[in-house]
Amino acid sequence: MAKELSEIFKGFSKLTREERLDALMEAGVLQPSDAEYLSKGGMRDTTLGEKFIENVVGWFQIPMGIATNFKIDGKDYAIPMAVEETSIVAAASKTAKWVREAGEITTEVVGEDIIGQIQCAKVQDFLKFEKDLLSQKNYLIEIANKEVAFGLVRRGGGVRDITVRRVPRGDGSDMAVIHILMNPCDAMGANIINQVCEFLKEPIESFTGEKVTMCILSNLVDTKVTRAKVTLQNIDPEMGFKIQEASLFAWCDPYRAATNNKGVLNGVDPILIATGNDWRAVEAGIHAYVARDGQYRSVTRWTYDETRRVLTGIFEAPLIVGTVGGVTALHPTAQLALKMLGVQSAAELSRIIAAVGLVQNLVALKALTTVGIIEGHMKLHIKNLTLGAGATEKEVPYVVKKLEEILAIRKRISLSNAIDVLKELRAGDGNAPVSSSAKH
Ligand code: HMG
Repeated sequence: MAKELSEIFKGFSKLTREERLDALMEAGVLQPSDAEYLSKGGMRDTTLGEKFIENVVGWFQIPMGIATNFKIDGKDYAIPMAVEETSIVAAASKTAKWVREAGEITTEVVGEDIIGQIQCAKVQDFLKFEKDLLSQKNYLIEIANKEVAFGLVRRGGGVRDITVRRVPRGDGSDMAVIHILMNPCDAMGANIINQVCEFLKEPIESFTGEKVTMCILSNLVDTKVTRAKVTLQNIDPEMGFKIQEASLFAWCDPYRAATNNKGVLNGVDPILIATGNDWRAVEAGIHAYVARDGQYRSVTRWTYDETRRVLTGIFEAPLIVGTVGGVTALHPTAQLALKMLGVQSAAELSRIIAAVGLVQNLVALKALTTVGIIEGHMKLHIKNLTLGAGATEKEVPYVVKKLEEILAIRKRISLSNAIDVLKELRAGDGNAPVSSSAKH
């Protein structure tokens, strides 16, 4: 019988890569052929790459790790994260363990429809335009579903509504912006909504007598947002209030909000990349959503209830992803990542992503308001500095050990320290006291 994920994740980070793959097979997350594919380094053949983009010369490899310990809405997940930055996967895994022991993560997707925009840059009479267009709304929806979105209609989705917005041009006149609202089911829906909008251009021009200027989807999908909530019980008031304060800082100050949200995206982007989703679209959507009241704010909020000793965190933003279509369906590693996650729908994928983003924010705020970010981050970054200094495989353990000692004493570390330690080692001064290498 397959082992539980919670069982294989105990001490997972201390295993070798081969042992991790074995453990994932024991849990039924990977098949032997999947493990073989990953251990050989994943995609190598550039033929497929040629189909994705233009002027291909090779692949750019990013490591993929597994965030462990996540229990979301009562379900355990092995979460693939493709990312180049040290400590993200470790921090998410460690904090997910804390959350599963001391609280819970719940999530939901509110709304179903994505947005396509059709712009009429200069309308003579906005009210007349709106009336003419909306009088044909049902017909426009019907032909869009019949001629373009019929596949989605078969799956229970398709175009569902059309609205019109009056957008001031800044010169005293208005432009009209039509929103096409469409349920893309388990696809991200970008290509289909763009096709729907372009298809509707001609009938809209003929019904209204106005010129359509352009048609394109909007990434600000406030009609379909994903929410994640973390609640942690029995939290020490000092820590609870510190995290609440840190969160308020990010809510009130756009300079801090940008960095806070970068930390959240540390959790979001790696899953988007691993599953072949469009992370630029999701990032654009999140940034626009958090600035919707005119000020750029944090995408997360943390509050502490002293009476109940409960810390609560909320993430809310559009996370428009697909589990079918596009690169998701074509890239074998993306397919494998989706298989590992065992997701049944795009909504489930977006809920997982929101949860990981929120947990990633929690770990950053906890570190920032207690020991600082350097200690944990740099502890794991030491290997990169060692390699950056040019250490050979044989030299790495010595340099890492010395740098850990320097970090413990000085609470900071840099590439110069790594270069100095390496120089000392090569000069045959391998027993030099840490202080001589720690002069920077
Ligand atoms: P630690 O306590 O030294 O770790 O923490 P540990 O060795 O005791 O291990 C405990 C658990 O942590 C492990 O359990 C793993 O789950 C995980 P186990 O697997 O043993 O059962 N873990 C690891 N997982 C994989 N590989 C590893 C590893 N080490 C621990 N090597 C840790 C060490 C780095 C986790 C901790 O210090 C930490 O969480 N630090 C915070 C680091 C962080 O937040 N990094 C994100 C990047 S920072 C950033 O850019 C965003 C920011 O600007 C955002 C903002 O401003 O809001 C900060």
